[in-house]
Amino acid sequence: MYHEKLDKFPEGFLWGSASAAYQIEGAAAEDGKGESVWDRFVKIPGKTFKGTTGEVAVDHYHRYKEDVALMAEQGLKAYRFSIAWSRIIPDGDGEINEKGLQFYDDLIDELLKYGIEPLVTLYHWDIPQALQDKYGGWESRQVIEDFTRYSEILFKRYGSKVKYWVSLNEQNIFISLGYKIAAHPPNVTDEKRMYEANHIANLANASVIKKFRDLNMEGMIGPSFAYGPSYAKDSHPLNQLAAENNEAFNSHWWMDMYAFGKYPTTVWNYLEKHNLTPTVEPGDDELLKHGKPDFMGVNYYQTATVEHNPLDGVAQGKINTTGKKGTSEASGLPGVYKSAENPFVEKTDWDWAIDPMGLRIGLRRIASRYNLPILITENGLGAYDSLEDDGSIHDDYRIDFLRNHVKAIQEAITDGVEVLGYCTWSYTDLLSWMNGYQKRYGFVYVDREELDEKELKRYKKDSYFWYKKVMETNGEEL
Ligand code: BG6
Repeated sequence: MYHEKLDKFPEGFLWGSASAAYQIEGAAAEDGKGESVWDRFVKIPGKTFKGTTGEVAVDHYHRYKEDVALMAEQGLKAYRFSIAWSRIIPDGDGEINEKGLQFYDDLIDELLKYGIEPLVTLYHWDIPQALQDKYGGWESRQVIEDFTRYSEILFKRYGSKVKYWVSLNEQNIFISLGYKIAAHPPNVTDEKRMYEANHIANLANASVIKKFRDLNMEGMIGPSFAYGPSYAKDSHPLNQLAAENNEAFNSHWWMDMYAFGKYPTTVWNYLEKHNLTPTVEPGDDELLKHGKPDFMGVNYYQTATVEHNPLDGVAQGKINTTGKKGTSEASGLPGVYKSAENPFVEKTDWDWAIDPMGLRIGLRRIASRYNLPILITENGLGAYDSLEDDGSIHDDYRIDFLRNHVKAIQEAITDGVEVLGYCTWSYTDLLSWMNGYQKRYGFVYVDREELDEKELKRYKKDSYFWYKKVMETNGEEL
């Protein structure tokens, strides 16, 4: 669909940027913080690029004032960050650590001082290690109560200042990578356990949203889902079916649960035939119905092009975590779908498809299937940047990427999709989980390398100034 003229971005559109505690804070054992599963997992040899950890990360814990001052100078309207559960309750279910609460109070106050709207993520993958040791973390129903208690503490403490809350960040990623391919903690490769843990995470998500309602909290809450809209490789019906499968298994499986409180039938049916269905107990359906969010949070990076996959076909292939283009392998679910090349889109050095139109398509699919407003909680380009002698960083490739995605959002808005805001990933450069520090996403360059922390000095990239203009003009000048 072509539009002669695009609608304007709505007044009050949340032009933002995002981060996550483990990826930026550092201060891994300071002020009473407990160990998280990521603090432990990164110590397993071979799990992260060059063995990188978040022990120091980009030292945001000590430099948050400097980082917020950069946001203020840029005119950032909203900042999404996550709270580390193990700072608030070091062992996950025991004593509250006042110093941890104070840190986020200070951060929130600093943001509000400059009129920056705080968007708080309750959980961005870093469950306290003590709960992992005690009862297996997301595999025990006890986590529902403990996660709800932790969230209630945050709701009560920050509720008068925070109006936007993200419950779980990318449940689909932390569950799949953690329990199917052992690329995240807790380092498991067991599909049955994956579906069980996922069901419990669904219950925990619903329980926290229910708590939000019971406490009559002002504002909005929803999960952030990593959505990679599916394309068929071509119009062959088998490949079209594979795309339907991919959408059902990798998207509806989670988003249907958030929006409708139920699993999609085809996937459930498949799991039954493979003895993989999670245990559903009396009362679960009732609780899941209470999980309906106020918005669908969307983290969009790329589309997924797929084709049919025979029963003896491809399973999980290698992921490119080195930044050497072309080193990732095809992946799939035998008998269901497998990834295919899309000749119409470029790729990043980490083999992620660059596809702004895919964002428009994804937003439209969500709006028409779920009829919910959408908050884009992440979108960005992981790339190599180079710091020039004069302190400049010419990241025109990132500007192109972001510009094209912002345009796609405006087109989706013109198509009729309600979009509340847009957070780029990320504000400063940060630790990219398995990919070290060389895969940079930020508006602000942080001078450190994998094995050399240097001075962690901050430098504004060209994209910093570009986004400043976009925000000043409410998206008129791209
Ligand atoms: C999302 C996460 O999956 O994508 C972020 O919510 C992450 O935490 C981002 O950093 C980019 O992924 P990666 O693997 O390139 O860091």
